[in-house]
Formats: sequence, C-alpha cells, structure tokens
Amino acid sequence: MTPARIFEANLTSIHRRTDRMFAWLLVAQWGAAIVLSPFIRPFGWEIDAVVLGGAINAAPLLLIRRRPGWWGTRHAVAMAQMLWSAVFITLTGGRIETHFHIFGSLAFLAFYRDWRVIATATLVVAADHLARGLAWPESVYGIANPAWWRFLEHAAWVAFEDVVLVCGCLRAIADMRVVADREAALAALNHEIERRVDARTRELRAANASRQLAEAELRQAHKLESVGRLAAGLAHEINTPIQFVSDSVHFLRDATADLVGVVDKLDTAQGLAHEERADVAYLRDRIPKAFDRSLDGLHRVAAIVQSMKQFAHPDSDEACETDLNAAIESTLIIARNEYKYVADVVTQLGELPLVRCFPGEINQAVLDVLVNAAHAIDDVVRGTDRRGTIAVTTARDGDHAVIAISDTGTGIPADIRDRIFDPFFTTKDVGKGTGQGLATVRSVVVDKHRGSITVDTAPGRTTFELRLPIDGPRPRALAA
Ligand SMILES: Nc1ncnc2c1ncn2[C@@H]1O[C@H](COP(=O)(O)OP(=O)(O)OP(=O)(O)O)[C@@H](O)[C@H]1O
Ligand SMILES: [Mg+2]
Repeated sequence: MTPARIFEANLTSIHRRTDRMFAWLLVAQWGAAIVLSPFIRPFGWEIDAVVLGGAINAAPLLLIRRRPGWWGTRHAVAMAQMLWSAVFITLTGGRIETHFHIFGSLAFLAFYRDWRVIATATLVVAADHLARGLAWPESVYGIANPAWWRFLEHAAWVAFEDVVLVCGCLRAIADMRVVADREAALAALNHEIERRVDARTRELRAANASRQLAEAELRQAHKLESVGRLAAGLAHEINTPIQFVSDSVHFLRDATADLVGVVDKLDTAQGLAHEERADVAYLRDRIPKAFDRSLDGLHRVAAIVQSMKQFAHPDSDEACETDLNAAIESTLIIARNEYKYVADVVTQLGELPLVRCFPGEINQAVLDVLVNAAHAIDDVVRGTDRRGTIAVTTARDGDHAVIAISDTGTGIPADIRDRIFDPFFTTKDVGKGTGQGLATVRSVVVDKHRGSITVDTAPGRTTFELRLPIDGPRPRALAA
C-alpha cells in the first residue's frame, strides 16, 4: 500500500471511532437534559428536553449510523454538540461555569483531527451567542443587560482555544503522514523479507529433496553393489562344479557309447534272448539323447552363470573397451525370466567396434529398458494368449554405437512423456515399479557416458534408442 492510502485508511478509522464516541456522548447529554429539566427551571418553565434533544440528535445519530467516517457526519456532530452547549447554558440560566461545556466540546471535537470541524463548531457558538445575546441575553450571560463587549470576551476565549486545537490537529495530521510513510516502508520491507524467505524456503526444499534423492540413490546403489558382488561370487562358485559335472557327463556319454559297443559284441557272441535285445535297443536309443539333453542343460546353466558373472562384475573407475553385443546378449539371458512369458525377443546385432564404456552400468541401463518393454507388453497381452515382441538392434552411426530396443506394448501416453525420466515417476503399482529405472538410464547414458536417449512412441509401440560415443565418455572440460 502507498503511504497516501495508509494515511487515508488511518484517518478514516479515527473519524469512525470518533463518530462512535460522539454517538454515546450525544445520547448521554440527551439523557442528562431529560433528567435535569424537570428540576431546574431558571426562567420558571420546563424545557421539553425529550423533543429538543431528539431534534438536536436525530440528524447526527442517523448519519453516524448510515455514513460513519463521512465529512458531513462530523460537521453535523459538531453542530449538534455546540447546540447541546447552548441547551445546558440555557438550562442553567446562563451560568458562566456552564460555558466550560463549550471548551470541553471543542476539545472532544478535536479528536477528529479536522480543523474544519472546529471551525463549524465555532461558527455555531458565535451564531448562538450573537442571536441570543441580542434577543435573550439572560439565557447566555445570566443577566439581562450585559456589557456590550461581553460577546467579544467570550469570542476571544473560544478563539484562543481554537488556535490551540487547530494547531494540535495540524500537528497530529503531520505526524500521521510520517507514521503512514513509515508503515508503508515497513510493509514494503516485510514484503521483501517474506519474498526472500519464500525463495529461500523453496531453495531449501529443493535442496532437501535432491539430498533425499541422492541418499535414496546411494542406498540403492549400495544395495545393488552388494547384490552384484554376491551374484558374482555365486556365479564363480557355481561355475566350477558345473564345469566338472559337464566334463563328467561328456565322459559318461563317451564311455556309455563304448559300453553299448561291448554289449553289441556280447549279443552277437552269446545270442541274447528276445526281451533282453529289446531292452538293449531301447537303451541304445535313449541313453545318447539323455546325455545330449543333460549337456544342453549344462551348457545353458553355464551360459547363465557366465552372463551373471559378466553382468554382476563390478565396474572399475575407468571406462574399458567393451564388446557391446556380447554384453547385450548376456543381459538378455539375465532378463529372460522378465519377458519369456509375454514376449519373443528378436535380436539384430550389427557390427560394432569395441566401445569404451562402463559395461556394468550399460548392462543395467539395457536391463531397465528391457524390463519396461516386458511390462508394457504384459499390460497389452495379459489375459489373452497373444505374445508381444521385443526387438533389440545395435548399429554403428558415425562415432556412436546405437542400441535400439523396441516393444509392442502399450506405448507411452502423451501426458506423461516428459516425466518418464523423472526420479520416482512411475505409473506402476507399488512393488512393481519404483520409478527409478529410466532415471538411472538417463544418468548412465547421458550424464556418465555423454550419450543421448531418444524415445519414439505411439499407441502399441515404443522404441528407446541409446546412443553411446564409441570413444567413451569425454571429460566434461573437453565436451563441446
Ligand atoms: N516401454 C515402455 N512402454 C510404455 N511405458 C513405459 C515404457 N517405459 C517406461 N514407461 C513408463 O515410464 C514410467 C517410468 O519408467 P521407469 O523405468 O523410470 O520406472 P518404473 O518402470 O515404473 O519403475 P522401476 O523401473 O524403478 O521398477 C513407467 O512407469 C511407465 O509408465
Ligand atoms: Mg522401469
């Protein structure tokens, strides 16, 4: 608010307050006149205080009620108040002491801090004294023949008080303007302080949110690191027995083939019974198949274990030359359980040079995108016997390696597209998604590897394209 408006508001409030005070005063004087008039009869007759007081008070009381604070109201009050002085002076037979009512009334009227009100009041007093001094001097001065200059004496004292009160009003108004200036300056200062506190609070909230996020990421990273270490250890442990079980099965297959040869020879030499021959024929047919199936299973377990070892292998601080296609294949094996019930995976891995990267983190990013693809397809095919397709392709594009992962899932609705990379943004149920997958993908591909991600989506299909610089992440200072 400007100082002028503050000043106006303060002044109006003083005017209204003083109006209310005078409402009580006018009524009180009316009451006093009603009580006194039957007992005091200086001229031998009773003043009809009810009617006279009503006539004096009607206009100001109505205005105070209807238009408090208005300039006309306080002038009406001033007139009424000075008429009450006239009534009391008349009622007491023009006693000089009652003239003090005039001085008291002027002092009360000065509460308005408006010198014009004092002027109006003075005019009323002057008019009353003049008129009654000429027509009925006893009622003003208490005697029938006062000196001609008596009027001037009264006027001089009233003028003296007027000077004091008008000076007081002007001084009070000047002080109010100073106060209004200060209030305005204080309000502006408060506003500025509030604005700064708001801005600071917002900054602190943001800092707090990012600290919490960083802590959550740290906890997650720590957990993943432990899981990764355990998985790498387990894979190593499983690898050795798988190796010797596999060797033994190989040996047993060859040895059994030899044994079957021996049994054949025995059969020819001794002539086996018909049923025994049938048994031998059955075994000769089934045993190699059983061995082949066992070896196939063992190879698969070995491949999974190998992939786990590779996937879980902790990254060093330095980026290393990586066969991205091999890394993707091992990630596909690891993620198989996520997609095998809902989708077929089609891979088209092109020729790629070794790419300098942090393979563990790239594996993680690819895994996140694959799992999202599987979930999106699951949303489409659930409850039907249809299956979706996840296509994984790699290619070289200039000095970048491009990994594209497409799915035939739901597609990403337009209204959430610009939020999918936000940390903790998820549309999935609690337990199925935490909203950290794509935030991690962006942090790995864009922040850590200085690559880029593009998303192409429409209802029924989505493609995430991860572009990684073949030369690896350049230090920040060298980046264009
Ligand atoms: N291939 C996709 N098809 C459709 N929507 C997707 C796809 N990938 C991501 N989204 C949408 O983006 C949101 C964010 O994905 P993000 O991987 O960050 O989190 P999430 O998968 O929900 O949880 P988390 O990966 O932490 O388990 C998902 O909840 C989903 O709504
Ligand atoms: Mg996800």
